Amino acid sequence: MELKLWTVVLAKIHFIDDITNYKKRPFYIYSKRGNDYLGYYISSHNNKDFETISIDNNDFYVWKIPMDSYLYTDKPSLINEKSIIKEFWKISKEKNKTIIKKIINYNTKAFFTEHNKFNINNTVPVSWKVFDEKELEYAIESILDCHWTEWRFNKQFEEKFAKFIGVKYIATTNSGSSANLLAFTTLMAKELKERQIKKWDEVITVAAWFPTTINPIIQNWCVPVFVDVDLETYEVNIEELKKALSPKTKAIMMAHTLWNAFNIEEVQKICTENNLWLIEDNCDALWTKYDWKMTWNFWDISTFSFYPAHHMTMWEGGALATNSPLLDKIIRSYRDWWRDCWCGTWEDNNCNNRFNWQLGELPKWFDHKYTYSRIGYNLKITDMQAAIWLAQLEKAENFIQIRKDNFDYLTKWFKENWLEEYFMLPKATEKVDASWFGFVLTLKENLSFSREDLMKYLNENKIWTRLLFAWNYLKHPAFIDYVEGYRVVWDLKNTDYIMNNSFWIWLYQGLDEKKLDLMILKIKEFLYGK
Ligand SMILES: Cc1ncc(COP(=O)(O)O)c(C=O)c1O
Repeated sequence: MELKLWTVVLAKIHFIDDITNYKKRPFYIYSKRGNDYLGYYISSHNNKDFETISIDNNDFYVWKIPMDSYLYTDKPSLINEKSIIKEFWKISKEKNKTIIKKIINYNTKAFFTEHNKFNINNTVPVSWKVFDEKELEYAIESILDCHWTEWRFNKQFEEKFAKFIGVKYIATTNSGSSANLLAFTTLMAKELKERQIKKWDEVITVAAWFPTTINPIIQNWCVPVFVDVDLETYEVNIEELKKALSPKTKAIMMAHTLWNAFNIEEVQKICTENNLWLIEDNCDALWTKYDWKMTWNFWDISTFSFYPAHHMTMWEGGALATNSPLLDKIIRSYRDWWRDCWCGTWEDNNCNNRFNWQLGELPKWFDHKYTYSRIGYNLKITDMQAAIWLAQLEKAENFIQIRKDNFDYLTKWFKENWLEEYFMLPKATEKVDASWFGFVLTLKENLSFSREDLMKYLNENKIWTRLLFAWNYLKHPAFIDYVEGYRVVWDLKNTDYIMNNSFWIWLYQGLDEKKLDLMILKIKEFLYGK
């Protein structure tokens, strides 16, 4: 008998090894292997020790079952075609979808368990995404939705993240760098009237840290003005920042370095007094608090990265946060090609006037959905990325706590072993409760070893290290070759010191005390010999 898959048959099921002993049960078939069929049996009894899916009469097309029943999806059974008594019922498409998802998720879990066995023993990696089967399950669920571009998972992301950090509007985007580009470009929109940033306006920033915090200023033909940072906190020096102000200053755009936060209260005060925009690059400081408040209580736009090295990941991805409905609207327009129409993906005719516009030199009746009123981008995410992020959100507070605990563990060890003799240890800015990203070590002057010697030793011993990204960005070929206009306030003495003497080690959520001890052991070995 040739059976259709995804149907229910009545079959003889052997629940124990004795082949003469069987029970007649409905059996859901989802796959054929030669003369055998793979599937799940159905019972009216719901045993809580097993995974089941309940089915009732609404789940069938033709025949009806006598009572509500349960499909035992815990593990599939194999039955021979000879044990099939008759074809029974046809299950509805919707229910089939639910069951197939469960089958895929079952296999996903098995895959994850195998994947996890591959362990990174005796290595302290730079950073590693920490995830379990939930991320894979959610991602697959979004694939099975077959929408793929931003849809229900993206909507949930924007709502949940807004709640998580306590802001009104969140817009997702495909990276932290895109978030920075969108944030800055938004402030150049003509809707902002007298506050619109224009070509050759000045924007205060720091040369230390990640290039894509600075690049949007240059890409939009504005002038970056560089200010030095403090050692130990690695954040902007407020007195130098005040000296950077000029009549052409329109904004301050800076990152919180690696964990910490700059003195955001002072920076905000400077912005308010001088009518400046404040863009906070929060890519490395998710959940860092200033004076018991989230740092984003202080700015106009805040940006986030969810690249795997960060507190949470979504493969690649980022987000922008704002409390201003106008800025949110502009951000979304730039992100979505800058169509004049404000309908989201999968929406049409929200204005009820789609074919009744006449803009630019276009003919009347030209479709508003395809009318472009600004030079925009496409920097959207897929729904799969949002799905992964939602699984990470369930773990986020734990991740953040582990980072804080690891920071305390490392600090205690360096202090107890008198290593402040060699290294400046990282320190939070006053009033900052930091959500640590990494552990920076800056070598003191006139030591008998160099930073390169130490980094080389650690890397040879599988303790991966990183420099502080671009410090000092002004010295990079990209900057020398492409940047036409910029200003430096006094000098960048500390920035240069850090460029030559700092590096960082890791404290991300995948590191337990065993790994931290391994890192510590190798540092000790380098300093004092084996
Ligand atoms: C401070 C800062 N801003 C921006 C970015 C860029 O984020 P993404 O890698 O998602 O583009 C990073 C990357 O790590 C970063 O550290």
